[in-house]
Amino acid sequence: VTAEKGGFDHFMLKEIHEQPQAYRDTMRGRIDESGKKVVLPELKLTPEQIKGISKIQIVACGTAYHAGLVGRHAIESLVRIPVETDVASEYRYRSPIVTKDTLVIVVSQSGETADTLAALREAQSHGAHVLAITNVVGSSIARDADDVIVTLAGPEIAVASTKAYTSQLIAFYLFALYLAEVRGTKTPEEVAHIIAAMQALPEQLESMLEKPDAIKAYAEQISKHEHLFFIGRGLDYAVVQEGSLKLKEISYIHSEAYAAGELKHGTLALIEEGIPVIALATQEDVLEKTVSNIKEVSARGADIMAITHEDHVASLLKSVNQAFAIPKTLPLLTPALSVVPLQLLSYYASLARGNDVDKPRNLAKSVTVE
Ligand code: G6P
Repeated sequence: VTAEKGGFDHFMLKEIHEQPQAYRDTMRGRIDESGKKVVLPELKLTPEQIKGISKIQIVACGTAYHAGLVGRHAIESLVRIPVETDVASEYRYRSPIVTKDTLVIVVSQSGETADTLAALREAQSHGAHVLAITNVVGSSIARDADDVIVTLAGPEIAVASTKAYTSQLIAFYLFALYLAEVRGTKTPEEVAHIIAAMQALPEQLESMLEKPDAIKAYAEQISKHEHLFFIGRGLDYAVVQEGSLKLKEISYIHSEAYAAGELKHGTLALIEEGIPVIALATQEDVLEKTVSNIKEVSARGADIMAITHEDHVASLLKSVNQAFAIPKTLPLLTPALSVVPLQLLSYYASLARGNDVDKPRNLAKSVTVE
C-alpha cells in the first residue's frame, strides 16, 4: 500500500507532491517551440467562433467550481469577455441566458459528476458550444462535450482534490491566453511574459514543498479549534474559498471564507478573542485594503496567520501573529502557488485530529446523483 502511495503516508500528500509534474504535463505540447505562444491543437472551436463569443459561463461543482472562479478572473482580465460562474446544481434552475454565441465551460476532475453533466446538456440544448476541462479522457462529460481540454494530473485517489484543482488552473490560464492570442487582446510580448512565468511555476512549487514544517506546526495549533475564518480579496478570495472547503472536507473544522472587505457587513460580529483568521494577502493591487481588513479583526482579538510574499512579511507582522511567505509570480498566476499551503494546512490539521485523510466521512470522490 505504501508503494502505491509512493512512500507517502496518504494519497493526498502524494498528490500534493505530484503537482509540479502535473503542471509540466498539462503545459506540455500546448506551448509552441518558441515558448511564446499557446497552441491548443485539440480544439475544434475555430478562430471565427472564438471571435464571435459574446459571453462565457463556467459551470462546475465543489473544487472544480473554485477553479472556475480563478478561470473567470483569467479570462476577464486577459480577454475582456464577460464570464459568469455557477455551481452546476443551480445553473439549470435559474433559466440561464444562453445563446449560440455563449461558450459554456464545464469543469470536472472525474467527468462523471451528475450535476455538471446535466448542466452541459442544458447548455447544449440552447445551442451553446460546450468545452469540458476534465482529467478523465473517456468520461461521460468528455464524450458529450463539443470540445475537451484534458488536464494531465494523472489519477487522483484522495477524495479531497488537490492536483486536479491546480491542473485546472493551468488549463484555464492556457485557454485564456489562447483566446487572447486569437482575439488580439494581449500583445505577443505580454503573452510570452505570462508563459515564461507559467513555466517557472513547477520549480517554485517544488521549493515550497521542501519546507512544510511551519505550516504543519500551525495546522496542529488550529486543529484544536472548532471555527475559523479565511479572508482575502480578488484572486485571494477565490483561493481561500478552496482552502476553506479543503479544511472542512477532511479536518471537519468549520470555517468560512470571506471576501475581506465584506466581513464588516455582518460577519465581524463573530470575531472574538483567539479565533484563528487566515488571511491570504498576495494581490498587490488590493494589499493595502486587505491590511486594513486584517487590522479590523486584529483589533477584535483574532489570532491571525497571513500568507504573503517575502517582501511583505515584515510589514504584515505588525498586524498579524504569524506570516508565511510564498514565492513570487505574476498576480494572475499566484493561485497556482498560494493554494498549496492551504492544502498542506488541511492535510496536517486532519492528521492532527486523527481523521481518515483520504476518505472523509459522508463524502465521495465522484457524485453521480443530482
Ligand atoms: C465531489 C468531490 C469533490 C469534487 C466534486 C466535483 O463532491 O468530493 O472533491 O470537487 O465532487 O467533482 P468533479 O469530478 O466533477 O470535479
